[in-house]
Amino acid sequence: MALLAVEGVCKAFGSLKAVDEVSFTVAPGEIFGIAGPNGSGKSTLFNLITGIPFAPDRGRIVFDGDDIQGKPGHAIARLGLARTFQRETSFDGLTMFENVLIGASYGKPDRAAAAARDAAAEALEFVGLESRSFGRLAGELSVFDRKCLMLATAIAMEPKMLLLDEPASSLTRPEIETSIGLIRRTAARGITIVLIEHVLTFLMSLSQHLLVLNQGRVLAAGEPATVIADERVIEAYLGTRRAAA
Ligand SMILES: Nc1ncnc2c1ncn2[C@@H]1O[C@H](COP(=O)(O)OP(=O)(O)O)[C@@H](O)[C@H]1O
Ligand SMILES: [Mg+2]
Repeated sequence: MALLAVEGVCKAFGSLKAVDEVSFTVAPGEIFGIAGPNGSGKSTLFNLITGIPFAPDRGRIVFDGDDIQGKPGHAIARLGLARTFQRETSFDGLTMFENVLIGASYGKPDRAAAAARDAAAEALEFVGLESRSFGRLAGELSVFDRKCLMLATAIAMEPKMLLLDEPASSLTRPEIETSIGLIRRTAARGITIVLIEHVLTFLMSLSQHLLVLNQGRVLAAGEPATVIADERVIEAYLGTRRAAA
């Protein structure tokens, strides 16, 4: 059974159909990639799935057997669905440790305080942030460290599924290599991953299935090698005309 099933989901902003009749399923344990040019609706799709900050206009979203469309964001998160944001997002005036502790305790409210602190420390170490820097303010960190912090905050919730929105954007090549390793190790913890990225090579190296969006609609879906060979995908990315191809 699919861990996540998205069925005919739509979201319009005025006359703009940002997400238009999108359907797909994600199996437990996989890394599922979502690609598409800028403005194709990728981040909006994550917003609709997580309820942060809005629900779909239409369509159904089933996560781990529960209908979640229209539920508040915190309720969806507590069912085991975590996300990161395209732009580094943290409580800048709190320390690294305090940020991750919010994920560890608020995301899993039944956990005792000591267990939440242990989970927070473990998640920070897991993403490679050193324990002597746990007291630094989030707002003082580099872009890469802030992305790692956001990932640690999500992992500390011990989610079943994690949605990552362009985790490689504005990173250097060595940082991207580190990120690829980190995403693989996160999946190896048993967390199912849905990964948005507009750099196809990054997605190709990680994903078992690929969905390509264009102007809010599903352009192609399936095995990565087949999807990127699809003429419509090449056209959407490179703007080549069919005739020229
Ligand atoms: N909150 C919003 N209000 C109005 N338009 C939006 C909003 N969020 C996204 N859009 C528009 O929806 C389209 C899809 O945006 P987005 O999902 O961010 O694309 P992507 O993540 O694929 O680059 C864009 O045209 C964008 O300008
Ligand atoms: Mg986006």
